[in-house]
Amino acid sequence: MTQPPTTTFADAAATWNSRFEGDEYLFGTEPNVWLKEHSGVWPQGGRVLCVADGEGRNSVWLARQGFAVDAFDIAEAGVAKARRLAQQHGVAVNYGVADCEGYAWPQGTCDGVAAIFVQFADPAERQRLFARMVASLKPGGTLVLQGYTPKQLEYGTGGPPHASHLYTPQMLREAFAGLQIVELHEYDAEMAEGKRHRGRSALIGLVARRH
Ligand SMILES: C[S@@+](CC[C@H](N)C(=O)[O-])C[C@H]1O[C@@H](n2cnc3c(N)ncnc32)[C@H](O)[C@@H]1O
Repeated sequence: MTQPPTTTFADAAATWNSRFEGDEYLFGTEPNVWLKEHSGVWPQGGRVLCVADGEGRNSVWLARQGFAVDAFDIAEAGVAKARRLAQQHGVAVNYGVADCEGYAWPQGTCDGVAAIFVQFADPAERQRLFARMVASLKPGGTLVLQGYTPKQLEYGTGGPPHASHLYTPQMLREAFAGLQIVELHEYDAEMAEGKRHRGRSALIGLVARRH
């Protein structure tokens, strides 16, 4: 019996590797704004894990702020660009190339997890992904997450074209019921993150702390 696909693409690594193959940084080299604005929740020099970090804009910026950063992505081409970006800025990040199903997730040792546009996961994969993110946090550690809401399907300015991959406040509240929700904000904003996240966007941001 064939396994149902767990991600948007039959071969996510191949799809993302081909997207990342040029020199251009598809999501830009500046950090995501929600992440930048909320990174103050983490202790100075703390350990932060960047999930599905792509071409490294977030991991590199966090390392530049003095955090000890682990990051991984399924796409080797993205991680290679992330390594280059880190080198350009003279910072070290502990990069890995891995599928979120196979990554050696830290266990209860992270001060922070950054999950910025990790909406490749369908509901079943998302449940496992979110559980792993939570388990990697130490008590008192904080998750900073950003994604699109279903309204983004009308804007079409980024993100997967699948309603089941998008987040609603209710869904995030339920998914992270075991955490203390510090902030949960649904809003529209003008995005300018490279060429793939550009224009009016329907966003949701979460900050949630492990007890
Ligand atoms: C929309 S991009 C966001 C990248 C990065 N977080 C950012 O904000 O710039 C989604 C990322 O998820 C990665 N990805 C897709 N499926 C994955 C999987 N199963 N495991 C790990 N990473 C995956 C892609 O390679 C891509 O880099």
